Amino acid sequence: NQKPSNKMIEAHELLKKFYHHLLVNTKEGQDAYDYLINRGFSREIIDEFEIGFALDSWEFVSKFLTKRGFNPQEMEHAGLIIKRNQNETYFDRFRDRIMFPIADLQGKTIAFSGRLLKEIKGQPKYLNSPETSIFNKSRTLYNFHRAKKHIRKNQQVILFEGFADVISAVKAGCPNAIATMGTALTEEQAKIIRRNVESVIICYDADSAGIEAAHKATAILTNVGCTVKIAVMPDGYDPDDYIKEYGAEKFQNDVINSSLTFMAFQMRYLRRKRNLQNESERMQYIEDVLKEISLLTKAVERDHYLRQLAQEFSISLDALKEQQYQVYRTEK
Ligand code: CTP
Ligand code: MN
Ligand code: MN
Ligand code: MN
Ligand code: MN
Repeated sequence: NQKPSNKMIEAHELLKKFYHHLLVNTKEGQDAYDYLINRGFSREIIDEFEIGFALDSWEFVSKFLTKRGFNPQEMEHAGLIIKRNQNETYFDRFRDRIMFPIADLQGKTIAFSGRLLKEIKGQPKYLNSPETSIFNKSRTLYNFHRAKKHIRKNQQVILFEGFADVISAVKAGCPNAIATMGTALTEEQAKIIRRNVESVIICYDADSAGIEAAHKATAILTNVGCTVKIAVMPDGYDPDDYIKEYGAEKFQNDVINSSLTFMAFQMRYLRRKRNLQNESERMQYIEDVLKEISLLTKAVERDHYLRQLAQEFSISLDALKEQQYQVYRTEK
C-alpha cells in the first residue's frame, strides 16, 4: 500500500505520458500539435518538455485512472478531477487544452497547466492545478529540475514569467531558464534560487505588469542575497515573442548579455517619463534619480551613481550631494 502522495504523483506521471501520446500520435491531438508547431515549438522541444494534450472530454481522466486502480477521491484531492455537487460523479478538470507538466525540484510531476488553443470568452488562457498536498505553488519553479545543472555550471539563472518564454529560451541556447508561472515570486522561491546560485537575470514581459513584477522580484531576490540584473526588450514584447521575431543570437546579445543593474533599469524607466530636452523636466528627472540613489543601502553604490549623474548632466558632485542630503536625508 502506497502513501497517498505517491499515488498522486504516479497518476500525474501516467497522465503526462498519455497526454503527450495524445498530442503527438493521435488525430484528436492534431490541431493542438499544429498550433504548437505554428508557434515555433519543434517536435524535439515538445518531446523535451513532455508537452501534451487533454481531450475535449468530461470523463476521459476519471475513466482512465479508475480503470488503472486509482481511487477517485484521491484523484480529486490531486486536482485532476472535480466532484459534481449533486452526486458522487466526477468530471475532468482539464479539457481540450495543451498540457504543460509541472515538476517539483526533483523532477516528479506534481501538477499541470493547460493552455487553450484559442481564446474562449470567460475561460482562463492557462488553467492550473489547484494547490494540493503535492503541489505547493510558492515552492515550485517551472523547469528548475532540468535547468539546475546548467544554473550551477553557468553560475547564473534566468527567471521568466511563463512556460512559453522558458521553452523558447531553452531553444535559443539558454538552458538555465526557469519561470514563476505568472504569479509573483515568493520568498521561498527566492531562497531555493539562492541555494543554487547568486546571479539572477530577470527577464519578464515588457509590459506594465512585467515591469512592476520585476521591481518586486528584485527586492525579494536582493533580500535573500542574490545579485540581480534585469533584461529589457522593446515595449509589448515577451521573451518568446522577441526570440521568434529577432532570433536566438539577438536575444543572447541584446537582451540577456545587455541586462541592466536595477539602478540602470530604474533610470531608464524614470527617463522615459520625462522629456530631457526640457530644462524643468530635466531637473525633475535628476530629482527622481536622486531619490532612487538615496534608497540604495551601499554607500559605494550611492557614490557610483551620484558620480554618473553628475557627469551626465554636468552638475558638480557637491551640489548633488547637498541636494540629496537636504531633500532625502534630512531626518538623519
Ligand atoms: N498565467 C496563468 N493563468 C492565466 C494567464 C497566465 O497561470 N490565465 C501564467 C502562465 O504561467 C503564463 C504566465 O502566467 O505562462 C505569463 O502570462 P502571459 O504573459 O499572459 O502568458 P504567456 O506566457 O505569454 O503565454 P502565451 O505566450 O502562451 O500566450
Ligand atoms: Mn516523446
Ligand atoms: Mn505577462
Ligand atoms: Mn507573456
Ligand atoms: Mn507569450
